[in-house]
Amino acid sequence: MRIPSRSMYYGTPVALVCTQNSDGSDNLTPMSSSWSLRDFVVLGLGCASQAVENLHHRPRLTVNLPSADLRKSIEQIATFTGKNPVPDHKAAQFSYCRDKFKAAGLTRVASTEGGPSRVAECPIQIEAIVNTMTDVSDDPEGFSVIIAKAVAQHAAVGILDETSGQIDPAKWEPLIFSYRTYRGVGPELGRMARVVRS
Ligand SMILES: Cc1cc2nc3c(=O)[nH]c(=O)nc-3n(C[C@H](O)[C@H](O)[C@H](O)COP(=O)(O)O)c2cc1C
Repeated sequence: MRIPSRSMYYGTPVALVCTQNSDGSDNLTPMSSSWSLRDFVVLGLGCASQAVENLHHRPRLTVNLPSADLRKSIEQIATFTGKNPVPDHKAAQFSYCRDKFKAAGLTRVASTEGGPSRVAECPIQIEAIVNTMTDVSDDPEGFSVIIAKAVAQHAAVGILDETSGQIDPAKWEPLIFSYRTYRGVGPELGRMARVVRS
């Protein structure tokens, strides 16, 4: 059956993107329209977000991946923006928040490569630099596609395989955003047959 296709949130991980404001403070943006390939991450962010404004001027970011148990922290900042004043099209549902780390009960940890803060509670933290930024539409409700190159990846010891030192997918449960609901991932269904050298 053909269905309306305005929102195709078919299930991608939630990320907390940290960017730097003009006064040097940081801003945290919950988002889920992202994917990764080798050492690049691709993000879809609203043009009217503080995150996009920050990245146009200061192209460093951290992409922090919460585990499923951090859902409540994400919801605590889901109706906030770091943009002041709040853009007209968001005014009915969003309010300004200067410190989303504090509002979410999350902890800053300094980046190792000189970019904005990482989120200590997120088991995977990627430090990245913008490579390409494209405004898909410049109307206030449009979005930008940002391609960023990872310069460092950090992972909590608790999600690492003790022998290989790589992330063990059996120990890592991303928080998935699917058609506006939060989900974990189920048990492993099988392994990819092709052997990949890490
Ligand atoms: C779970 C979740 C997923 C979201 N995904 C996105 C997204 O992929 N892209 C986006 O632009 N906004 C997304 N948002 C909305 C932004 O968080 C929201 O517009 C916020 O006000 C932007 O913050 P900023 O203006 O401080 O950057 C998401 C929000 C939540 C709670």
